[in-house]
Amino acid sequence: MDPRICPLNWDTYVETFPERYLRRGHFDDVMGQRLDKMRQVLRVLEIGGGTTGCPLFQPEPPSNLRVWFLDPLVTKVPDWVVENLGWDQAVKGSLKFDLVVARGCINYLTPWEIRAIPDMLVPGGLFLANTFGQVREGSRMSAGRKGLLQESIRWEHPNIVHHELTLPDGCVINHSFFHYTQNQYLVFLGGPEGGCLFTSYGDNSLLIELRG
Ligand SMILES: C[S@@+](CC[C@H](N)C(=O)[O-])C[C@H]1O[C@@H](n2cnc3c(N)ncnc32)[C@H](O)[C@@H]1O
Repeated sequence: MDPRICPLNWDTYVETFPERYLRRGHFDDVMGQRLDKMRQVLRVLEIGGGTTGCPLFQPEPPSNLRVWFLDPLVTKVPDWVVENLGWDQAVKGSLKFDLVVARGCINYLTPWEIRAIPDMLVPGGLFLANTFGQVREGSRMSAGRKGLLQESIRWEHPNIVHHELTLPDGCVINHSFFHYTQNQYLVFLGGPEGGCLFTSYGDNSLLIELRG
């Protein structure tokens, strides 16, 4: 199959990217445990929720949750989403959230966007995110909805990672994301006094929790 360069389209992420990013895992279990302790009606903001939202919100969120999205790069969001906000709306608006969640997407956010998150929480609210630990350069084969994908990762810049995906039909999707250290996340999110906690889990993943 001759390769073709295809644009990245976050609307088709679920069909094109490796399934291991999508399936329910430890992060979703932690999120479920935190939500179990917050029984009242909650306002939730899902950053980078894509076209489906977190596995815990599929096919729809628990009935005590009202969920807003902040994902300017998709055109389709689930019909249970109250509204898909833009960054300006979320930052300048008066809405505050009990839970802000960023599943598999904090590494796409600029420092300005990450710094804005603590102010989106009500006092005592929770920010939960997960990301990768180390950048592991190299190529591997991964299972995707359309068959086996060739996935490769390499540094592109001191804090930018290049990702290349070759779909079974020869379509090559290139995109990049940030790599921030734990210290950088600490600074962006308000420092250790700000209540930021890191937990490594799985093979190479990092859970980030911040109490507002
Ligand atoms: C790798 S996907 C993760 C999707 C989903 N949260 C999951 O866990 O499978 C990254 C998501 O982040 C979104 N995204 C990328 N840059 C963003 C930004 N600056 N602000 C908000 N969302 C962004 C994309 O549109 C996409 O839906």
